[in-house]
Amino acid sequence: MPIITSPQDFNTEDLYIDLRPTLGSEIYLKCEGFNFAGSIKLKAAAAMVARAEESGLLTDKSILVESSSGNLGVALSMIAANKGYRFLCVTDARCNLSTRRLMESMGAEVHSVNQPHDEGGYLAARLNHVQELCASDARYVWLNQYANAHNWIAHQRTTAPAIAEQFPCLDVLFVGAGTTGTLMGCARYFRKRERPVTIVAVDAEGSVIFGGSPKARTIPGLGAGVRPPLLDPSYVDDVVMVPEIDTIRACRRLAATGFLFGGSTGTVIAGAQRWLAAHRSASPVTAVAISADLGERYLDTVYQESWVRDVYGEAEYGVDYEAAAVDGRTMQAVVPCLPSADSGVW
Ligand SMILES: Cc1ncc(COP(=O)(O)O)c(C=O)c1O
Repeated sequence: MPIITSPQDFNTEDLYIDLRPTLGSEIYLKCEGFNFAGSIKLKAAAAMVARAEESGLLTDKSILVESSSGNLGVALSMIAANKGYRFLCVTDARCNLSTRRLMESMGAEVHSVNQPHDEGGYLAARLNHVQELCASDARYVWLNQYANAHNWIAHQRTTAPAIAEQFPCLDVLFVGAGTTGTLMGCARYFRKRERPVTIVAVDAEGSVIFGGSPKARTIPGLGAGVRPPLLDPSYVDDVVMVPEIDTIRACRRLAATGFLFGGSTGTVIAGAQRWLAAHRSASPVTAVAISADLGERYLDTVYQESWVRDVYGEAEYGVDYEAAAVDGRTMQAVVPCLPSADSGVW
């Protein structure tokens, strides 16, 4: 029975969904949304704050400041409230209203940048604002999740070994890319292990992280208008770019089976399905995809008809809920490679 005194002390590291019955895809989805911050960004936030405290950078006079599309901001709001620090989050117009309210409820100040930078989009505009704040007052401490090694180290120490323990014969790992902290931490961990694991990065179309041309994106979490300094592409075996409309479709297909996930989970699953279809092998593969958060924060966007039609037009993005439920019941499960016997997954 976990008993805690700080919200950051609790996390669920061992929950996976077998997507064969629901989507017919041989993918185990690692669920990272079950903690008090509601997302995988708890790990990066906790690691970066701990390091800043150890190094003496963060003191009780400091004001934490960070650029975030939302989830890191929520995690930092929570940790800052618990530890008694002030926190200012710089976000942008794509940040969900509920995410902003969450941060404010925990005492954070939120600045929303509404004008994207001509070349670097919203991210560059947010970073400029953070830099202006830091130049204006020496009390600001910017953890800088885009360049802070403790962002990826957190995943090298937690997320990746947790996957390796549960799936000793993992073949492919699908990881969404935002700051690339999750991607680089997992990729570095698996590169050091003897058994080769194919690391596939999944990104949103319109993101420039892997060299694509910039295009407007509306779903927060994945993608960036500026290449994150953390990225070392030599650790990445393959990249899949997913159009946002496929993100919506994947989220809705999952929702139709009772699993309500955040937008980036839809992107990662759509990308993983595409990659697996293009790389069919004679023998079954063991594939894990990482889900960063759950769906409640996206009720006004991904899961709202009028928002989707306004943004993407009248394309067919919906799901036949009844058919999805029947599919789920009749799909045959073929076990390619069991997780370790003591994992509790079964
Ligand atoms: C919902 C969601 N998915 C994915 C990511 C990307 O994770 P990372 O920054 O480790 O690349 C983020 C980052 O903020 C996120 O909020």
